[in-house]
Amino acid sequence: MLVTRRIPSSVLSRLEAVCEVDVNDSPGLAPADLRSRLQGKAGLVCVLTDRIDEDLLESVQELKVVSNIAVGYDNIDVPAAKSRGVIVTNTPDVLTEATAELTWALILAAARRIGEGERLVRSGRWKGWALDFMLGTELRGKQLGVIGRGRIGRAVAARASAFGMTAVLAKTDMSIDELLVSSDVVSIHTSLRPETRHLIDRKALARMKRSAILVNTARGPVVDEEALAWALKERLIAAAALDVYEREPIVHEELLGLENVVLVPHLGSATRETRTAMIDLAVSNVLAVVQGRPPITPV
Ligand code: GLV
Repeated sequence: MLVTRRIPSSVLSRLEAVCEVDVNDSPGLAPADLRSRLQGKAGLVCVLTDRIDEDLLESVQELKVVSNIAVGYDNIDVPAAKSRGVIVTNTPDVLTEATAELTWALILAAARRIGEGERLVRSGRWKGWALDFMLGTELRGKQLGVIGRGRIGRAVAARASAFGMTAVLAKTDMSIDELLVSSDVVSIHTSLRPETRHLIDRKALARMKRSAILVNTARGPVVDEEALAWALKERLIAAAALDVYEREPIVHEELLGLENVVLVPHLGSATRETRTAMIDLAVSNVLAVVQGRPPITPV
């Protein structure tokens, strides 16, 4: 078994009780190192920054299972794995609440200019309270448009009533275009697939309200960052908040210079509770396959 990141010893010992385990303890594995360390292994426990492409899968004959510690699996060539009889698993459910909570943190941060305010206070340039100072926008009475009808999208929508918002789901309540035109907050929760790459492009951004907020906690490439920077600069939309980026950890240069975008470093599932549960589920999946049982959460 190859595990590409350090995992808690209590979980690691469940693996070690059953098989030989090679754990990489550096922060990442270069593709060539991943390839050579994977030779002769039956199972792989990996993270979303590990690329599991056709080339790699072709080079490892003994591999039976790829267990991603993530719900998204756009880092894995699933058809190439399937055609070689390699089972792919992910970690759904256990990260739904954490990601929904982070989404609301970002919605609130963008609506109330939290990042901008923080930067001002820390810079020592705050001049004091004023009637018209750093006014944001209220959520009550507004419409939240959710793109992505999966677990996370629905968990985000379910929390809308706590803030007095109405929630609409794309393709359930209305078309994506109708949602873009009518929503005050648009939140993206779709997986990254060829048909969702740059789903939010210049054209989509231009359809949104000038007062709207765009939030992305799904996958960076669903939003065309260049187009988003343009829309924010031209004030075609009021603000945005991003947890994910097109070329992580690189963030589009122009976004870094804008005040009306909240930028956080891919933290959707980053709570102690959730990460523990994700690692546990990933290990249970890999163990199930090597012990001849059906995986718990196959892709
Ligand atoms: C995180 O981005 C995940 O897909 O789990």
